[in-house]
Amino acid sequence: MKKITVNNLTVEEKLRLICGDGFWYTYDFDGKLPKIKVTDASMGVRMTGDDGKDKQSVAYPSMQMLANTWNTDIVRKYAECVADDCLAAGADVLLGPGINIKRSPLNGRNFEYFSEDPCLAGILAREYVAAMQSEGAAACVKHFCCNNLEYNRNLQSSCVDERTLREIYLKPFEIAMQAKPLSIMCCYNKINGVQGSENAEGFKILREEYGFDGLIMSDWDAVYDRAKAAKAGLDLEMPFSKKNYDKLVSDYNSDVISVEQIDECAQRVLNFIYGSKELQKGKSRKHSLEERIAFTQTVEEEGIVLLKNNGVLPLKNGQSAALCGEFASPKGLNVCGGGSGQVPRLTPAYDIPALLSSAHNGKIIYEPAFGDRCTVYGYNPGVAIDNAAQSDVNIVFAGTGAYFECEGGDRAYMQLHPVQERAILDTAKANENTVVVLFAGAPIDMSAWVDKVAAVVWAGFPGEKGGEAVVNVLTGKVNPSGKLSETFPVCYEDTPAANSYMDGKVTVYEEGIFVGYRYYDKYGVPVLFPFGHGLSYSDFGYKNLKIGGRGGKIEINFEIENKSALGGKEVAQIYVRNVCSTISRPEKELKAFKKVFIAAGKTEKVSVNIDTSDLACWSVASEKWEVEDGVYEIIVAASATDIRLTGKITVKDGVFYATNKMQ
Ligand code: BGC
Repeated sequence: MKKITVNNLTVEEKLRLICGDGFWYTYDFDGKLPKIKVTDASMGVRMTGDDGKDKQSVAYPSMQMLANTWNTDIVRKYAECVADDCLAAGADVLLGPGINIKRSPLNGRNFEYFSEDPCLAGILAREYVAAMQSEGAAACVKHFCCNNLEYNRNLQSSCVDERTLREIYLKPFEIAMQAKPLSIMCCYNKINGVQGSENAEGFKILREEYGFDGLIMSDWDAVYDRAKAAKAGLDLEMPFSKKNYDKLVSDYNSDVISVEQIDECAQRVLNFIYGSKELQKGKSRKHSLEERIAFTQTVEEEGIVLLKNNGVLPLKNGQSAALCGEFASPKGLNVCGGGSGQVPRLTPAYDIPALLSSAHNGKIIYEPAFGDRCTVYGYNPGVAIDNAAQSDVNIVFAGTGAYFECEGGDRAYMQLHPVQERAILDTAKANENTVVVLFAGAPIDMSAWVDKVAAVVWAGFPGEKGGEAVVNVLTGKVNPSGKLSETFPVCYEDTPAANSYMDGKVTVYEEGIFVGYRYYDKYGVPVLFPFGHGLSYSDFGYKNLKIGGRGGKIEINFEIENKSALGGKEVAQIYVRNVCSTISRPEKELKAFKKVFIAAGKTEKVSVNIDTSDLACWSVASEKWEVEDGVYEIIVAASATDIRLTGKITVKDGVFYATNKMQ
């Protein structure tokens, strides 16, 4: 097929081309152009069939669980696997990753996003996009930007100051652009009063500052004025809207929009169509279907976060365990979030009582006692309490699901359903060795019960092989190594956005740059589990920090010792603090991280580089990034509140030149 350029198209054809085709396709002029199919992927590839129903596909742990791995190798393989699913199912472009910052734990789509931290979200997105595209599927990074709540998402305006935009909400996009995604999706909401699809200023930053030369497409039905959106730089409207197309044609005929402006959009749509097909050339599927299904277990095993453990886990040989809660054996229920990311899984739902019985040497008894929405069985605690009382360990499986965490709305509250809280409290009263395993996509307020239980395991939204992964963590076959990619606050009232102005039309980002741990650090607000937290069955010690470098490079070297008799992985986090800043800055900010395996009793050297430009903050006065001269503390930590090593460096004129002090 000979390549077409805008010069080969009539104006009518160009106008048609920039308006998509049906729900999922680009326009192909009856075969003159390749037809590109786009589809969603936040927990695996969601393919809608011609009957309008979603087809079965490999269900993966949600993006939150992927982020909890802090493992860029896992992120790359995950992206390769979903790219394989995408191409095998006949689609060309995956509408993801979603990289919006988690400003509030109530956001109904948090399970689809990576983090509250722009560095973590940006780095993971960059790796994801690069791997997905190298496997042949084009990425569409979304939702640009400040789509941080679902409530009234089409009507409300996110009111954000310039510095906060740059440092927090645009930053993940800036980093992700390094991987050259073929496309970006705009958001539903307005940004400072401007429609997401008409965000000329934002699109200019993408193109002129971040070097993005791909396609900007709309979110589904997020275009209100096609000509205005095209003039702002929105190349493709999705899905096709006859009403918008007709209006565009009449606007063109009335000189509201010029042919040059249409040409720009149309050429980018052509580049996108050819570029997507180009990516696929010479590529065959790297990972077989069996491998992809098996890999969902690896992701889950690395993403599970052991939040609390007084020593009850792993289960000891011969111990009996009482299990309750339908999340242990969800039968027909889908343990995942809802909306455009939802995927009907391929394999039958897991059955933890059965899996645990065959993996563990000890008696296992199970009583559902309560269903996922707490209505299936109502609440029949009697047997579960008796079971708990007669067993060595009691394990309660609780959580949320697509009915509670779903696109298009936010969670109404952060607690578990009262019936689930009751079940935890009642059975914990009968057995002090109570473990709670949570399946959910966003932080839970555990204040009613967390002090009464011995251990808490975060299993997130787990994908096909979630049951196997949870069992392996409970039995110790897998040593947990996930860490939280977002803070778990004590309660909603404590969170950065809780007290900001919001009226359904305007959401004011009053907390500014103090999002996530930046807020809790600054105002000394205690949290339930900090950002970056996650326990292991091993015990790690950090030592021998050495900071060196030259010019703009800062080399951070240290060692981690595994003091236990069990091999395990540790996620080391590098935060930076400006010791004597003249401007308001967070107490510390994540700049790098590394996950390393350390064999039992061994010590591993860890080396991480950052650049002095990573120390910059956005100067509102000069409208650019600036690195303040001065002394910076380099903080090596096991979580945002578990600082292990610190050292100081001096930076002058953007150059690292001295190490003052280390400890
Ligand atoms: C969502 C997008 C999604 C699109 C297509 C929209 O409602 O916001 O994330 O990609 O639908 O399903």
